[in-house]
Amino acid sequence: MNVLVIGATGSIGLLVVKEALAQRYAVRALVRRQAKARQLPPEAQVVIGEITRPETLAAAVEGIDAIVFTHGSDGSGKVGAENVDYGGVRNVLNALGSRTARIALMTAIGVTNRTGHYNQTTEAHDWKRRS
Ligand SMILES: NC(=O)c1ccc[n+]([C@@H]2O[C@H](COP(=O)([O-])OP(=O)(O)OC[C@H]3O[C@@H](n4cnc5c(N)ncnc54)[C@H](OP(=O)(O)O)[C@@H]3O)[C@@H](O)[C@H]2O)c1
Repeated sequence: MNVLVIGATGSIGLLVVKEALAQRYAVRALVRRQAKARQLPPEAQVVIGEITRPETLAAAVEGIDAIVFTHGSDGSGKVGAENVDYGGVRNVLNALGSRTARIALMTAIGVTNRTGHYNQTTEAHDWKRRS
């Protein structure tokens, strides 16, 4: 099975890449900048792309059987929550088109909490749920 990891250079994504390789999956890592790919295990296939730029995603999803989303906007508030946390998932699934894949999405602790201060100010939970 070919597994695509979105957010592969993040603290969680790196663990996902290592575990998927240990489970003998073929792993493709979407990475924004080549320099960041150095931290990944050499067995992982690196594809350069950015989830907020749909035109960069075609190669990433080619031949993929499963996608693990572990990306996250870094404190950029509502705009990041909508464009990265949600928009990234939307763009990758659009790139996948009519092809099917198993999907896992890292959401967030408290993602069902709509009324707390954090969600009221960032909408982060709302956009994660929509993803
Ligand atoms: N860490 C936790 O304990 C924890 C707990 C619960 C939920 N979560 C959720 O899990 C997710 C990942 O957390 P984390 O701690 O691993 O975050 P992180 O270390 O900040 O990693 C975020 C990842 O997303 C990538 N990314 C951000 N914007 C992108 C874009 N436009 N295109 C492509 N990739 C992009 C980053 O790439 P770069 O390396 O290029 O920046 C990085 O690989 C987040 O959504 C977070 O809310 C985390």
